[in-house]
Amino acid sequence: MAPGRPPIALPERLSDVTAPVYGWWALAARDNDLTRQHAAEPQGQRIIVAGRLLEDDGRPIAGALVEVWQANAAGRYKHRIDDHPAPLDPNFTGAGRTVTDADGRYEFTTIRPGAYPWRNHENAWRPAHIHFSVFGRNFRQRLVTQMYFPGDPMMAYDPILQSIPDDRARQRLVSRYDLTLTKPEWALGYAFDIVVRGSHATPFEEPRSG
Ligand SMILES: [Fe+2]
Repeated sequence: MAPGRPPIALPERLSDVTAPVYGWWALAARDNDLTRQHAAEPQGQRIIVAGRLLEDDGRPIAGALVEVWQANAAGRYKHRIDDHPAPLDPNFTGAGRTVTDADGRYEFTTIRPGAYPWRNHENAWRPAHIHFSVFGRNFRQRLVTQMYFPGDPMMAYDPILQSIPDDRARQRLVSRYDLTLTKPEWALGYAFDIVVRGSHATPFEEPRSG
């Protein structure tokens, strides 16, 4: 897909961020399908993740760059600092991007990421999650957050998710299984809306997080 709207201003401190930033000037058709970026399909449960990017009053944010990055189905990132003993998948990079449409809607096709161990505390495992980054039209800051999957028992033990004191705010980071997004014989669908500010805002990470 080609961007149909004028470019947005990028933040000044891109060098501060550690996660993928592709820019949006060369958006390719398969950038929002993480299962079609290599010669064959990746291993794992195929899923569709879709939702809307919204202002606090519910107005859609159109033309905004949305990026995602995630581990593969075995819980391994394609990144040199991830060296835990789970297999890499030659058909999965784990990064995608798209631009919201006139209704603020985005959609990705990917595979469900696996949980992965981290050394934050004894026997610590991150619940399955997908990292999101959004640039809106009406704010300069890049907003970064993580989407979780409903019913994941590891969410209760996750210091990152549990660092958000308000349970309602935590729940805004948990996607919803959605039969209308689910495609028969093809993929499970998860809905995840992102609200950029206000009392119902999606919790975001500090600007340096990645
Ligand atoms: Fe992660």
